[in-house]
Amino acid sequence: MKIPGKRLLSRIFRNCADPKGALGRVILRMMNFGHRPVYAWTFDHLMLADGMRVLDIGCGGGGAILELARRFPSICVDGVDASEESVAMCRRRTADVPNHGEIVKGVADALPSADATYDAVYAIETIYFWPDLRAGIREMLRVLKPGGIAAVSVECFNTDRARVWKSLVGRMEIRTPEQIVRTFREAGFTDVAHFVKGANLPTWCGMACIVGRKTNSHV
Ligand SMILES: C[S@@+](CC[C@H](N)C(=O)[O-])C[C@H]1O[C@@H](n2cnc3c(N)ncnc32)[C@H](O)[C@@H]1O
Repeated sequence: MKIPGKRLLSRIFRNCADPKGALGRVILRMMNFGHRPVYAWTFDHLMLADGMRVLDIGCGGGGAILELARRFPSICVDGVDASEESVAMCRRRTADVPNHGEIVKGVADALPSADATYDAVYAIETIYFWPDLRAGIREMLRVLKPGGIAAVSVECFNTDRARVWKSLVGRMEIRTPEQIVRTFREAGFTDVAHFVKGANLPTWCGMACIVGRKTNSHV
């Protein structure tokens, strides 16, 4: 695909996958602002309630954690991210959140959390970059308490329209909501459903949210 200024744009946008340095911090700030509609829409599907313990996987600059704390001040949210830059910004941004949890460096396919820790887990705009999606989704199931709920949200899910992002970011795997649903089911989630917004807009993306529940009988 021919994109004017592609080399420069790639230097900027590869920080979406692995934020680093000054450009990484700029991208993280842009996402904290630009992803607000996805944060809000994801939380609408998580059936959150006061007192829950929640994990944000690929927490980036902490935008979602701040939004969640604003809505549910008594929820304790931990965050995990593969990038040191993201972890540092997320820690700074959430330091004043009264009920803030731990923000740690780690990867989605080997989460640094004990089994059955969380009531809800979510991953926003990050699964494209996970080297092993199946392992990541299985990890979401493992760290959930029985009856807990997981959500994955993506803006790029139309493999054709989102091609431009893949060519700029580089290391990025775009999947359809149906493919993600299948991975949830194969991992052992039940009540798996997906919701799509804006799919017919003449833009490169909309929003898709895939949710699943860990059964109460899960051991
Ligand atoms: C596009 S940003 C989204 C950040 C945040 N969720 C948001 O929506 O504002 C993607 C984030 O996923 C992180 N990431 C990429 N691969 C990861 C992995 N395998 N495990 C955990 N985090 C990862 C990146 O470091 C980056 O902070």
